[in-house]
Amino acid sequence: MNETNGMLAGKTVMITGASSGIGEAAARLFAAEGAAVLLMARREDVLKHLAQEINDSGGRAAISAGDVSVAQDVQRAVDAAREHFGALDAAFNNAGFAGDDLAPLHELDQALFDRMMAVNVSGTWNCLRSQIPVMLEAGKGAIVNTSSTAAMGATGAPVPYVAAKHAVLGMTRAAAAEYAAHDIRINTLVVGTTRTEMINQVVDAYPELGPAFVARQMQKRMADPVEIAQAALWLCSDRASFATGSALAVDGGWTAG
Ligand SMILES: NC(=O)c1ccc[n+]([C@@H]2O[C@H](COP(=O)([O-])OP(=O)(O)OC[C@H]3O[C@@H](n4cnc5c(N)ncnc54)[C@H](O)[C@@H]3O)[C@@H](O)[C@H]2O)c1
Repeated sequence: MNETNGMLAGKTVMITGASSGIGEAAARLFAAEGAAVLLMARREDVLKHLAQEINDSGGRAAISAGDVSVAQDVQRAVDAAREHFGALDAAFNNAGFAGDDLAPLHELDQALFDRMMAVNVSGTWNCLRSQIPVMLEAGKGAIVNTSSTAAMGATGAPVPYVAAKHAVLGMTRAAAAEYAAHDIRINTLVVGTTRTEMINQVVDAYPELGPAFVARQMQKRMADPVEIAQAALWLCSDRASFATGSALAVDGGWTAG
């Protein structure tokens, strides 16, 4: 499954939320596929460690610590990609926040709503706003935003998370339409349950949810993070040259069931 084909040879790719889970798996995979990777997340020490590992094994990685909900942090990461590697060819906007509080809407903290909107929605918005000008200049680009089965309906995730992931899907489609003529492809991944810190937090808080999460899927298991990263890899690569505005489900059959 992890054989490499140089699918991103010669490209620079920015990955947000690269310090764990799907983003971390993507960092290793994209680098192995030939990309120079610019890693962004809030935990600088973790990013440094990962970049070191990639550089030590013959890849090319640089970091820019920051919060995707802060526009200046995102701009700094885009600038860092150009400073280190001279370009920004693709981006995997993967950072997200779901929280671990499944209280009903009327009992949920306002601060949780604000955070879920800030990270998932404003975070994606900030990324698009900083990445697209660079790609316009280059005359080409590929962006993958990270949505969820929660963009397709009520999954049982908190209401603000469901709303936020619907927004990511809408933003992807509308932006794809605006920039298709400029050869910038913008797609979203409809991610199903994946074994990461995010899901572990929820299952630790509500153990009965482990089996419930996969019950609606055709494949009765959680994904390994690299299985999601493989789909992002394809969408970032030139092999996905006719894919834009798509919501690619990598969800063990959840949306089709
Ligand atoms: N794990 C799942 O089952 C699942 C399902 C559907 C969608 N997703 C989505 O996949 C994406 C990756 O999640 P994951 O499962 O790997 O979770 P994770 O918690 O392991 O990783 C999330 C990453 O985002 C980073 N991050 C969070 N807030 C940030 C911020 N404000 N600024 C910068 N970085 C920030 C975290 O540090 C971490 O690196 C998210 O967008 C999530 O919503 C995950």
